[in-house]
Amino acid sequence: MTARDWWKSAVVYQVYPRSFADSDGDGVGDLGGIIERLDHLQRLGIDVVWLSPVYRSPMADNGYDISDYEDVDPLFGSIEQLDELIAGLHERGMKLVMDLVVNHTSAAHAWFQESRSSADNPQRDWYWWRSPRPGFEPGTPGAEPTNWGSAFSGPAWTYDAATGEYYLHLFAPEQPDLNWENPEVRQAVYAMMNRWLDRGVDGFRMDVICLLSKVLVDGELPDGRLERDPLGAGVVDVTTYGDTTPLVVNGPRIHEFMQEMHREVFAGRPPGLLNVGETPATTIEQARLYTDPARAEVDMVFQFEHVDLDSGPQGKWDIVPMTMLDLKRSWGRWQDGLAETGWNSLYLGNHDQPRCVTRYGNDAPEHREQSAKSLATVLHLHRGTPYVYQGDELGLPNVGFTRIDQMRDIESLNHYATAVAAGQDPAAVMAALSAKGRDNARVPMPWDDSPSGGFTTGTPWIDVHPMASTVNAAAQVDDPDSVFAHFQRLIALRHDEPVVAHGTFRMLLPDDEQVYAFVREHDGDRLLVVANLSDVPDVVAELEEAPYDGADLLLGSVPGATPSPTDPLAPWESRVFRLK
Ligand code: NOJ
Repeated sequence: MTARDWWKSAVVYQVYPRSFADSDGDGVGDLGGIIERLDHLQRLGIDVVWLSPVYRSPMADNGYDISDYEDVDPLFGSIEQLDELIAGLHERGMKLVMDLVVNHTSAAHAWFQESRSSADNPQRDWYWWRSPRPGFEPGTPGAEPTNWGSAFSGPAWTYDAATGEYYLHLFAPEQPDLNWENPEVRQAVYAMMNRWLDRGVDGFRMDVICLLSKVLVDGELPDGRLERDPLGAGVVDVTTYGDTTPLVVNGPRIHEFMQEMHREVFAGRPPGLLNVGETPATTIEQARLYTDPARAEVDMVFQFEHVDLDSGPQGKWDIVPMTMLDLKRSWGRWQDGLAETGWNSLYLGNHDQPRCVTRYGNDAPEHREQSAKSLATVLHLHRGTPYVYQGDELGLPNVGFTRIDQMRDIESLNHYATAVAAGQDPAAVMAALSAKGRDNARVPMPWDDSPSGGFTTGTPWIDVHPMASTVNAAAQVDDPDSVFAHFQRLIALRHDEPVVAHGTFRMLLPDDEQVYAFVREHDGDRLLVVANLSDVPDVVAELEEAPYDGADLLLGSVPGATPSPTDPLAPWESRVFRLK
């Protein structure tokens, strides 16, 4: 795999280190634990590991608040163990992509410590410092320089009495935003990225890159409008704060910054690297700009349209019903939109999302395994690079949190406190957190049916999944009918069949409420994917596609079934055929 676009036939697996495997019994997953579990990844067949942050961090946001980009946090192990992980993956033919957070640092980072030390410190301008709003008492509500809210509740500005100014943080106060307008900041980031590539990592998953460039009006950050932008179905409380989306998402210099990063870090290096950007609230048009190879920015982006489908006018916690048709239409638009230029990342889950089988499938006992398999079939057979989030290969559902003391995530805890203080019904707030809270994906990976699911010999930092004793890796890896085995076959199919990696995509039955069907085509080779993504039994795909004579079943979700494309589909059944 040395072609420039090697990642078209690759599958990426995300490891959330805190929750993957604990080797030292302190209850927190670590690098030693990942190294011990490399066989699991190799058996699954994945090509790349995306490792969520392991850098030094006060862990306000579980490592997405980095205080030293150049070292591993002792909680996770040592830099030598990271080298060992890189070597272990490379020996097995896998790559390592590091998560990298450069929209902000931790407030404990030396850069911020310098920056906050005095108003005339040479690094003052590395972050966004602004005076209080005129006419307000500094440090009191309303004195913030703009009306921006933080994604983790509360204002996006924190007052620093020592210098009488506020600093900007689009996330928690512990995560001050870097000022990318300052060329020294950009050069410091690129130099650090180069050191990681020189050390042997194979690329980066760049956290919220679409936020790096902010809109400036006469050199100042402006207030947000008080009506919500339809694209901003995000995480900021728009009933209290102005809409930051048009001011911070895909700002005026973002593509210039990404092109500069590409020139300074990636250009001239041998093929084999991957740079993927996380881009909430980003349109197809923007994604095309980011991922057009001729523009040399990033290889692909994580778009958010399908994970915002169940967000209502008030944002993430205002949960609205979502149908399979919504998902199909959204993905269909993205497939068409990036068909000629650019490339899709394909994902249903990650460490910020609830479990996909609960959200998009049906996690009732009779449907959980089939819906986990068939959602994966549909996802992996699209044109784009699929991402598997740890535990999704086992069909893990949501946790079913009922009490806030079961949760640990800063976003959930802050939202609960703020919403309840504002008078919302605690039970309703808890119901929303249970459905969409990030801890659903962050409870320990269940390895076996032992206490703590084989994750730790100590006390886990958050309770293990209530289904760990039955839904676990040991129960599945040798079972040819398991969700794990289905994922293995999907991954192998992408490796073996150029049509999966390179074929065109054509949606069939776009208005069908149960059937998700499409054709992939490459060099005269055609695959047909048909899935019943519903609880309805005996669904027949009313396909006009023909002929079916001799269609070969390459992969089915129901063990032992050898149907044709138009045979009735069981609830949540999926099939992949090669058409003659
Ligand atoms: C996106 C990350 O995926 C998420 O986990 C984090 O909280 C925010 N960016 C802030 O870094």
